[in-house]
Amino acid sequence: MPRAQITALGHYLPDYVLTNQELEQLVDTSDAWIRERTGVCERRILTGERGSSYMGVRAVQELLAKKGLDASEIELLICCTVTPDMVFPATANIITDELGASRAWGFDLGAACSGFLYGVCVASQFIETGRYSKIVVVGVDKMSSIIDYQDRNTCIIFGDGAGAVLLEPDTANTGYGIQDFVLYSDGSGMKHLHMKSGGSRRPPSLDTVRNREHYVYQEGQAVFKRAVVGMAEAAAEIMERNGLTGADVHWLVPHQANLRIIDATAQRMGLTPDKVMVNIDRYGNTTSGTLPLCLSDWEDRLRPGDRIVLASFGGGFTWGAVYLTWAYGK
Ligand code: COA
Repeated sequence: MPRAQITALGHYLPDYVLTNQELEQLVDTSDAWIRERTGVCERRILTGERGSSYMGVRAVQELLAKKGLDASEIELLICCTVTPDMVFPATANIITDELGASRAWGFDLGAACSGFLYGVCVASQFIETGRYSKIVVVGVDKMSSIIDYQDRNTCIIFGDGAGAVLLEPDTANTGYGIQDFVLYSDGSGMKHLHMKSGGSRRPPSLDTVRNREHYVYQEGQAVFKRAVVGMAEAAAEIMERNGLTGADVHWLVPHQANLRIIDATAQRMGLTPDKVMVNIDRYGNTTSGTLPLCLSDWEDRLRPGDRIVLASFGGGFTWGAVYLTWAYGK
């Protein structure tokens, strides 16, 4: 059974920087409070009539250029997002069309902040069965399209961005690649984190718009309590299953929801802060984008064989962890 490896990365971040200072003008908050309670200093915003596909296309184009691949070589593209361009067609289809990925089929995967983690696991199965050898997983969200900039509980956290990875089989038999994963979900978490309207249960109407129901609704403390336990437990479980101690792990790639959740996970894993990828200060929580954006930011520092744990927790609730060994670099 060939192991699935990440063999290339790409990302895209919009130019517009929304600072804490600018948010101070919109809602009753302060730069100091946001930094202390979340770790966010600024986030990126995609302006104009452009959807998630705009960022996804650019992230994949960067990946293809770095790898020297043509879009027509992609066989499957999974777009992980909760902010698709439209209800249908799938944003994956829009991305493959704009890329000219003429041989690829694709679909969207919605698992909120765990979308990319789920997507990588799904893709790895298609590689391991030997069915495909070039799969792109895109993690992208334009969170600004579903954030209420009058709600200080949510508007301070989220941002826009995209990351993409290429998965290929370990044809050289290095043994590097995805080693193991644990995935979970609990639908009873819906009451704490959801979007009230816009779906088939409560389609858009004048009332839903007037009541501001087309935005993220989050009970911050309830989500925080579950996230801090869920992400740390999943990370600890994957380490235990694979006989890893904190000293064995080179990098933790955590979902960037709140710096305090990241710190608690690292502590549970017995990791020193220098082994933890953190970019929440610059991008906030980009939902499906956080994990590939971290990998992309740290790409130059990754070495073949590095033991890496990815961990996430998000709406659904959805959570889990992946253990992989890095496959390329100097
Ligand atoms: N600016 C200033 N004050 C704020 C504020 C803001 N943006 N948001 C809330 N406050 C106030 C509250 O009104 C409250 O005041 P009070 O004590 O006078 O009532 C106080 O700060 C504490 O509020 P609380 O909601 O307990 O804050 P918190 O420390 O839990 O932080 C979140 C809020 C949203 C940052 C935090 O709960 C969180 O990160 N939750 C998890 C997010 C997550 O993991 N999501 C999953 C993936 S998307």
